[in-house]
Parts: sequence; structure tokens; C-alpha cells
Amino acid sequence: MPDPSSSAGVVNLGPFNPVVDKLGRPVHDLRISVMDRCNFRCPYCMPQSTFDEKYRFLRAQERLSFEEIVRLARAAARLGVRKVRLTGGEPLLRNGLPDLVAELSGIEGIEDLALTTNGVLLAQHAAELKGNGLHRVTVSLDSLDEAVFARMSGGFGGLPQVLEGIEAALAAGLRPVKINTVVQRGLNDHTVLDLLDRFRGTGVTVRLIEYMDVGNRNSWEPAQVVPSADILRQIKARWPVTAAAGRYRGEVASRYTYDDDAGEIGFVSSVSEPFCGDCNRARLSSEGVLYTCLFATRGLDLRAPLRAGASDPELLELMRSAWAQRADRYSELRSELRSRAAPLRKVEMHYIGG
Ligand code: GTP
Ligand code: 5AD
Ligand code: SF4
Ligand code: SF4
Repeated sequence: MPDPSSSAGVVNLGPFNPVVDKLGRPVHDLRISVMDRCNFRCPYCMPQSTFDEKYRFLRAQERLSFEEIVRLARAAARLGVRKVRLTGGEPLLRNGLPDLVAELSGIEGIEDLALTTNGVLLAQHAAELKGNGLHRVTVSLDSLDEAVFARMSGGFGGLPQVLEGIEAALAAGLRPVKINTVVQRGLNDHTVLDLLDRFRGTGVTVRLIEYMDVGNRNSWEPAQVVPSADILRQIKARWPVTAAAGRYRGEVASRYTYDDDAGEIGFVSSVSEPFCGDCNRARLSSEGVLYTCLFATRGLDLRAPLRAGASDPELLELMRSAWAQRADRYSELRSELRSRAAPLRKVEMHYIGG
């Protein structure tokens, strides 16, 4: 007899039953890392000195299979997840990713299915991803200056390929296309206005992200952060912009629109203006560990129960209990936590995809 709780059989997950954490925050986004490898070596995320030929990435069988990912995503939807974002490392390095997209897009309750990519492989895959049900993409792009781009991507990948990827995404209808730009003082802050200028009026939204102390390897210093307010001042000196209302509770970026209808700009200001109060994001690593904060030091291993034969309702209960116990608010406590004598061992960015 088929197992009724397997993804192939009838799924017996019970009714939709949203969970809230200890601070009353629901779970709304599930960010699924499908690949811990990347074809870039951005020094702020995967510095070449650590992530060299000797670095041991996960073996294929250590990563969750598509079937395992789909089972967890389906359970997460029962707990309240409405948006799924596929991340990496670089998610397009995962073989067959469009097949996973097709399965995820069919899950009841998932209303928004997005992908964050460095864009190099996007032109090849955009049409198939769209055809399989992906709604939209966000492309990481730190500068249009070739030398700055090379420095910030670790010398890998090519700016022309990333720009082609963005064009292909627009042509395929993976809209809105967004660009994530991590701003680092003295590295690319002088190129931000050029980047904005290039995408004004194209329908592409640029989001400027304050450089964060994610993971343990990027030697982050507060002085490297350019507060969003400083950039906003520079922007206002060039183009009139107006603050836009938030679209939904828990939105990461605060938004501004150009007064001449040339589109919008987003600011992700987790250092200068933490937004933990409304944080509704869960993260699943490529090896199946569930994290309730980007800066978590621990997570819940779901791969072990998955592979030991746990049923879908059992997996759902494990996830429910992890979220119900959640009290994370790292960005609000950053200074205090960083001043402790023993540094926190945080999960690495490439491993949970930001
Ligand atoms: P939209 O749904 O398009 O608004 O995007 P998103 O919120 O899923 O954002 P995306 O993945 O593009 O993230 C933008 C940036 O914000 C990334 O650099 C993330 O690392 C950062 N970010 C996203 N979520 C969080 C969060 O919960 N906490 C912090 N501190 N940063 C976050
Ligand atoms: N600070 C801010 N953003 C970062 N990203 C990666 N590392 C950092 C960091 N230390 C961004 C990437 C990508 C997104 C998922 O996270 O550029 O766009
Ligand atoms: Fe790769 Fe993105 Fe990390 Fe850069 S920030 S190394 S593109 S995962
Ligand atoms: Fe959420 Fe943690 Fe980021 Fe705060 S620091 S917004 S709790 S992921």
C-alpha cells in the first residue's frame, strides 16, 4: 500500500493552520537554498581565501533532493508560508532547477515563487523557468564599472552575461525584475548613482543593501557600511524621489519612487534601521537545516527525520515547533551581541542564501 503521507501519495497534512513565533510574528517567506556552491567568489560572502579548491562543499547526496524540498515546502505552506524564494550559493548551478520550480509552483498556498541569482546563467534558463511557473527573479549586481564588478565578484563571471541575464528575464516576463546591490564604503559606493541611472525607466527595481555582518568570514566592520540615509541624500540631490508606502507587513525593503515615473528604488537597511519586529522569514539550507534567522548560530536538522522515514505531518510538527520557539532579532541586538567576549559562530551566507 502506498504511504499516504509521501509526496507521491495523498498528502495528509490537515487544514491550513498558521503558526506565530514568541514575538507574535507569523511565517510568510521560506527561502530555500538549493546549492551551496557558487560560480562567484564575492569577498563579502565567499572569500576565495576560504572557498578555494580544497574547500569541502556538500556532496550531491548531502543536499536535499527535489522530492524532499517539495515535501517540506508543502508542509511550510500549511504553517502560513505564502512566498518561496530559491537561493544558493548560486541556485542555477543546481541541475534540473526548472523541474523543482514546476513542482513548487503547484503547491497550494504558495502565491509567490521567486529566485535570487547572480545572473550569469540566467539567460540560458529564463524562458524555461518562466514556463515552469517561476514568477520573478532578483539579480545580484554590485556595480556597472567593470573593475569594481570584478573586485566585488571575486574576479569570476562577467558583467555582460549578467546584463544579458537581466534582459532575458525581462523578455521572459519574470517581472518585476529586481537588482540587489550590496553597498560597501570605498568599494562601490561611488558607482551607485550610475547603476540607478542605467535602470531608471526600464521596469527594473534596484535595491541598495547595507553591507551586513553575515557569517564569520567577511571581516565586517561598521565603518564599511554606508547608511541608506546617506545614499538617499545623494539620490535626492540628483533626482526627486518620494517615499512609497510599504506593500505588506514584513517587507524587507523600504521603497522610494522617482517623481518622474521612472520606477522605484528599494533600501534594505538592516544595519541602520533593523526590521526584525516584522520578520517573517524562515530559511532552509541545501542540506535541510531550518534556520529562523539569517544570523542564526543553530538550526533544526530536517534531513535526518526526512531520511529516517518521518511522515509529512511529523515534519510539519517539527517545523511548527521550531517557529513557535523563535525569538530571534539579531539586527536589533547587533551591537550588544558583537561586544560579547566569545564571538557568535553564525551560519554562512552561501549556505542559506541571504
Ligand atoms: P522581495 O520579496 O522582492 O521584496 O524580496 P526579498 O525580501 O525576498 O529579498 P531578497 O532575497 O532580494 O533580499 C534582499 C536582501 O535583504 C538580501 O541581501 C538579504 O540578505 C537581505 N535580507 C532578506 N531577508 C532578510 C532578513 O530577514 N534579515 C536581514 N537582516 N536581511 C535580510
Ligand atoms: N551583506 C549584505 N548583503 C549580502 N549579500 C551577500 N552577502 C551580503 C552581505 N554580507 C547579498 C547578495 C545577494 C543577496 C542574497 O544577499 O548580494 O544579492
Ligand atoms: Fe555567490 Fe551571491 Fe555569495 Fe556572491 S553573494 S558569492 S554571487 S552566493
Ligand atoms: Fe529576521 Fe534575523 Fe534579519 Fe532580524 S536579523 S530581520 S530576525 S533574519
